[in-house]
Amino acid sequence: MKGLIPAAGRGTRLGPFTQAIPKELLPVGNKAVIEHVVEAFVAAGITDIVIVVSPRKHGLSDYFGSGKRFGVNLTYVVQDERLGLANAVAAGEHVINSSSFAVVLGDNFFSPNTVLRDLKEFHEANNADATIGVVEVTDVTRHGIIKPDGIDVVDLVEKPEPAEAPSNLGIAGVYIFEPGIFDAIHDTKPGFKDEYQLTDSIKVLVEQGARVVYKKISGIHIDVGTPEDLMRANEFYLKESARSV
Ligand code: UTP
Repeated sequence: MKGLIPAAGRGTRLGPFTQAIPKELLPVGNKAVIEHVVEAFVAAGITDIVIVVSPRKHGLSDYFGSGKRFGVNLTYVVQDERLGLANAVAAGEHVINSSSFAVVLGDNFFSPNTVLRDLKEFHEANNADATIGVVEVTDVTRHGIIKPDGIDVVDLVEKPEPAEAPSNLGIAGVYIFEPGIFDAIHDTKPGFKDEYQLTDSIKVLVEQGARVVYKKISGIHIDVGTPEDLMRANEFYLKESARSV
């Protein structure tokens, strides 16, 4: 299994820091938030990883280099325009090729970092075409929301109004896919905010009769999108580190 980390966003909500530093390189404790993501891949036994960057986001390759020092083998691909998460995943298609692959958003912080390993095992045990990590959310308007049936996902909506939300289970920025997702992405039309939403591509998979399952993530998940989220992730990490000394 390979890995793919979308990191081609603008990070406007974390400006003005992101005028100078890619959001994924902002620190959580003593390492960049995306280094925690890379560690989760290593913990899952996935070491061939594609990082999707935008033009001029050199900072990521300055930080990681080939990945050797971090125990991984990195390939950088470029998403020319910020057209949405599905489009970012498609940017890595020629490298992923016909392999199964895991996707973790480059600005997401998880603890413990065994989340991806557990999701991968769940995906393989259920012989799924796609597996989505979810968390219970209070504000459905900030997340992709799934409609569950047992462990299956039967529908998905990106950032619905509360009255239209099929559940309170929000997509947590961690996924496992079989390569069939690429055809689904090519069949996806622009959706929320006129972007190619990965949530809509997974909905295409569901409509094609593919097996899409979900697993609730245990532990902490923080989408580091705003200064407050960055503070929260740091507060949590520093407390955890102090406890383990
Ligand atoms: P966000 O939705 O947080 O978008 O992306 P953003 O552009 O980074 O931030 P704001 O909204 O301007 O503040 C979630 C993750 O998906 C990646 C981002 O880099 C981030 O890691 N992403 C998003 C892409 O790689 N490409 C896209 O087209 C969209």
